Amino acid sequence: MVKVWDGFVRGFHWLLVCGIAILYISGDEGWLDLHFVTGYVLLALMLTRIIWGCFGSSTARLASLFHSPKAVMNALLKDQPTTGHNPAGSVMVLVFFTLIFIQLLSGLMSSDDILIEGPLVQYVPYAWVELANDLHRDNIDLLLMAIGIHIGAIAFYRMKGKKLVKTLVTGYTTESADQPFMRSGKVAYIIFVVLSIGVLYLWGQEPLMALFNVG
Ligand code: HEM
Ligand code: HEM
Repeated sequence: MVKVWDGFVRGFHWLLVCGIAILYISGDEGWLDLHFVTGYVLLALMLTRIIWGCFGSSTARLASLFHSPKAVMNALLKDQPTTGHNPAGSVMVLVFFTLIFIQLLSGLMSSDDILIEGPLVQYVPYAWVELANDLHRDNIDLLLMAIGIHIGAIAFYRMKGKKLVKTLVTGYTTESADQPFMRSGKVAYIIFVVLSIGVLYLWGQEPLMALFNVG
């Protein structure tokens, strides 16, 4: 057994899945207090993942996600043992990070044109707010498409006998030969909690109080 995913990468993934589900439903239903609070926590989560991508375990590193087009094609065509994301999976991860940051940033500049606006709306010209609103509505379709392809790919690998979900839950695999460099995810969770408190303190007080009917 070789450990390939540290505790933070594993927790990050399932928190991300829950966060996106809550954001999708709350955005669609117009429950914007819940939407904003979840959006701020997700922003902290994504920022922590980027920080962890700079000095976390080797399989969490952002630098390990960049491969030549040839390596990506090879990974799609041939089954090669890899430690961490394979080159094709790495492209998927980069696409996810980009789409999620576009969704978060556009949300921060979006407004429902009645009462509620993202915290950056006051700092940018109105044309940007219109653009951000359109982006926020259209980018979600790309994100949903990426999620569909992602789940399809995981199911495809499962049919070929690779239990990637089990590995992402337990952190361990029998497929890799060499043990990658691992860091304890605890440090990343501390960064996540500190950033969440910071973002919620800065922008989240109103929606938090409205959500819990305080004041
Ligand atoms: C909202 C839906 C989802 C999003 C946005 C998402 C996003 C991601 C991201 C960003 C990663 C890379 C993790 C990292 O390096 O930090 C990843 C990996 C992974 N995801 Fe998801 N995911 C979603 C749903 C799911 C579901 C439902 C499953 C299970 C059926 C799943 C299974 C996996 C697996 C197994 C990996 C590791 C792939 C590998 O071994 O290279 N994901 N996902
Ligand atoms: C990954 C994160 C996010 C996802 C998946 C998401 C998703 C959505 C969805 C599905 C809608 C409904 C769009 C429609 O009416 O067609 C929506 C609306 C909205 N979102 Fe987000 N959102 C995210 C982050 C944020 C953030 C961080 C903010 C601001 C702090 C925000 C602010 C808004 C606003 C103001 C609306 C209402 C727009 C309107 O009524 O026209 N969102 N979002």
